[in-house]
Amino acid sequence: MDRLYIFDTSLRDGEQSPGASLTSDEKLEIAFQLAELGIDIVEAGFPIASPDDAAAVRRIATLVKGPTIAALARCKPEDIDVAWDSLRDGESVRLHTFISTSDIHLKHQFRMTREQALEHAVAMVKRAKSYTSDVEFSPMDATRSDWAYLHAVLRAVIDAGATTINIADTVGYTTPGEFRQLIESIREHVPNAHRAVISVHCHNDLGMAVANSLAGVLAGARQVECTINGIGERAGNAALEEIVMAVKTRPDVYGVQTEVDSAQIYKTSRLVSNLTGIVVQPNKAVVGSNAFAHESGIHQDGVLKERSTYEIMDARHVGLSDSTLVLGKHSGRHALRQRFEEMGYRLSEEELNRAFSRFKEIAEKKKETTTKDLEAILADEIVSVHEVYRVQRLQVTCGYPVVPTATVELRLPSGEDRLEVATGTGPVEASYMAITRIVGLPIRLAEYSVRSVTSGIDALGEVSVRIECNGRTFHGRGADPDIVVASAKAYVNAINKAASTPQQAGERVKTGVGV
Ligand code: KIV
Ligand code: ZN
Repeated sequence: MDRLYIFDTSLRDGEQSPGASLTSDEKLEIAFQLAELGIDIVEAGFPIASPDDAAAVRRIATLVKGPTIAALARCKPEDIDVAWDSLRDGESVRLHTFISTSDIHLKHQFRMTREQALEHAVAMVKRAKSYTSDVEFSPMDATRSDWAYLHAVLRAVIDAGATTINIADTVGYTTPGEFRQLIESIREHVPNAHRAVISVHCHNDLGMAVANSLAGVLAGARQVECTINGIGERAGNAALEEIVMAVKTRPDVYGVQTEVDSAQIYKTSRLVSNLTGIVVQPNKAVVGSNAFAHESGIHQDGVLKERSTYEIMDARHVGLSDSTLVLGKHSGRHALRQRFEEMGYRLSEEELNRAFSRFKEIAEKKKETTTKDLEAILADEIVSVHEVYRVQRLQVTCGYPVVPTATVELRLPSGEDRLEVATGTGPVEASYMAITRIVGLPIRLAEYSVRSVTSGIDALGEVSVRIECNGRTFHGRGADPDIVVASAKAYVNAINKAASTPQQAGERVKTGVGV
């Protein structure tokens, strides 16, 4: 079977999801996990967008071993040079450059003729090639481009040295049948197409990103660009977990194999969701909380008799543990470590200590601690956010008819504790007012949501917030049986990210803007 290369762009196109913004530490953490997952190429960022992006790409290229690390650049000399500068210390790296080929984009956005765009593309692929042998070229908005012109551009960039040509359905416009024909036409009409890997990059505006990508594979594409949980601009990109499980479940149809370790999928999905704050819908294929749940009696009956009656994938193959061992307040460190290992997490002694004391705290309040609770504990305790402030104490008075009042004590970076009292329309607002006063930062709460981690009256509440501070957006999360405590933790978690991010002048350049 042919090898299908999986190119993950969660850290670049995925990070362009509305509201998703990751710190450099979080990007590095995700990149390490993508390496564990066995991804072939990780697109780490768009270095010209901001010095932060460039620094994150540099860290990932130097520290993450296994995947090839790619960086994006417009067809502009300064973009290519800055992208190369971020990649140059990596072991295996790729420069990825793009320009639009559709008349709509060329006329209204790029204000270029077709000839000029082709010249830029060739010149910039050559420039990229002068730095590295691994060069990818993307014709942006390829699916709305004139096919004959697209063929001419692809032929010219392959001659100029492109080793991957990535056919982008930038606005999610194509359909599976049409996209398959487009890829076939490239193989037929671009005489040097066999010298490059054909890649597909589909957006999900009409809900067909995965179907279109797989149609591309059927037509001979051997690289798919996708993101974890399908995050990305607007309706997102093709979901990586769906592509991988489709080709693994139906080798008879797709005839390709990937090196992705599917048992790492669920863990990667949780990590990306926790760090971006983009919640996975319950009915999401492969990684949604209902993806392997059977509600109807007939289905339950069938699955109990023989799993394959209603399940086409084994939940364990995507990393969902089916362990029935429930932990309680008498469980020890050893049992906890063992459970984490079953879930795919190997913790250091120090991490286990932190997780264990948190587990004990929760187990005192909750009868049974499940895998989902443990995941929430890990996300709270182990995620590498520099702890600038810590909630030491929180007391709220609320009810009817009283004025909700919160007393909050935070540990400051100096080690000193500071206490504030504030009122609000409810207990959460009152606590946020007190916290904001202590930290003294210009914060706007942009989003707040709370959900229950498991079912049951004693379930952990998981709060997700998005704050704006000094023109940047930060996501925070926190979990606790008490949702006011979870809310305070989530808020302080986001503030810690804001407080450890250097302030920067100006807006980030998003892909395609200011071309
Ligand atoms: O959607 C798109 O066209 C892109 C390109 C930069 C590949 O993300
Ligand atoms: Zn894209």
